[in-house]
Amino acid sequence: METTLARGLKDVVLDTTESSFIDGEAGILLYRGYTIHDLAEYSNFEEVCYLLLHGSLPTAEELGAFRKRLVSYRALPKEIIEVLRLVQGAHPMDALRTGISAIAAFDPDVADNSREANVRKSERLTAQFPSVVAAHHRIRRGLEPVAPREDLSHAANFLYMLDGKEPSKEAVAAMDLDFLLHAEHGANASAFAARVTASTLADMHSAIVTAIGTLKGPLHGGAAEAVQEMTEEIGDPSRAEEYIKAKIARGERIMGFGHRVYKAEDPRARHMREKSRSLGESTGQEDWYKILQQVEKDMAPYQSRGIFVNVDFYAGSVYNLLGIPEDLFVPIFAIGRIPGWCIEILEQFDNNMLIRPLLQYVGPKDVAYVPLDKR
Ligand SMILES: CC(C)(COP(=O)(O)OP(=O)(O)OC[C@H]1O[C@@H](n2cnc3c(N)ncnc32)[C@H](O)[C@@H]1OP(=O)(O)O)[C@@H](O)C(=O)NCCC(=O)NCCS
Repeated sequence: METTLARGLKDVVLDTTESSFIDGEAGILLYRGYTIHDLAEYSNFEEVCYLLLHGSLPTAEELGAFRKRLVSYRALPKEIIEVLRLVQGAHPMDALRTGISAIAAFDPDVADNSREANVRKSERLTAQFPSVVAAHHRIRRGLEPVAPREDLSHAANFLYMLDGKEPSKEAVAAMDLDFLLHAEHGANASAFAARVTASTLADMHSAIVTAIGTLKGPLHGGAAEAVQEMTEEIGDPSRAEEYIKAKIARGERIMGFGHRVYKAEDPRARHMREKSRSLGESTGQEDWYKILQQVEKDMAPYQSRGIFVNVDFYAGSVYNLLGIPEDLFVPIFAIGRIPGWCIEILEQFDNNMLIRPLLQYVGPKDVAYVPLDKR
């Protein structure tokens, strides 16, 4: 049998999808046909969740009912709070993975793999992610979790549950935009991993836990945290050029640059860039933005090799300006991405085929077995 080696499954088309379209050469991203730029300007996270999970933009009535359902799913079972207390010393991403794994045991639809049940589970998971992240963050700081508020939007309620204070309009708008921009992105590593689990006909929670584990790495969700660390190391725009040159000379990557699919600027980056600029201006902390701008300028020569800024480059500075600690950056990505994971899993279930690639064996053959006492 003739086989082709496709390391990292680069350029391999896994399946068809109706959820998102990416043109990596032109830097285009559409959610169900709508350009990310229109959604970033006119829509909000809840509406985009509905669009992704239910296939079309909601009417006012549908959106109202959807929001009510999300609000009703926000409170966590008390047993989950206890689980989060037990893992309070864990990295927030590990706590999220553990909390969501445990939450499966309390989901009334856990054993039902019908489409209707999976849509209900998707909505519940979307509402529960921020609650798990916020509760763990409070507990690890020696504070009690803050009960969710019914009158706040998804983004506002998350910020409220983190700090116990009602966030500013500007903070809510930044968080909402960040969630919206991260909501769905095709067969990225974590969504692909979720599809692999779903393709065995395992349940939705198992597939989501797989995705959380996959998002954690610095080549995927961890990049924003790494960019923030880099910005702190650079410390001043005047030091950016030398820092970048030295890093590249050591064969290291500049975090927040490059993308497996985009060989032009990631279309989400411009919205985060603008938020980073405006939040920096309004909080009087413009240094982060200035350093990032300088790094972007110093990286311009690499554009000819298709290495452009990606969504994570400015995301870290936005979180930082919102007062969010670095180890919450990846869980925040997960809170934004949960509807995307869910729709990818739903699509996999709708037209399932076991995902099982091959490996090209390069080891020795015909090795004679040596008994234990002769080795
Ligand atoms: C995202 C990423 C893993 C995609 O990588 P990929 O599609 O596998 O591309 P490759 O790793 O094959 O890189 C192709 C070339 O570009 C270079 N490159 C890619 N990203 C780079 C970066 N951020 N900084 C410097 N060089 C980079 C590689 O070194 C490689 O050069 P070579 O051909 O001389 O070896 C990669 O760009 C990266 O590590 N980026 C930093 C992490 C990041 O920001 N991740 C968030 C993505 S949203």
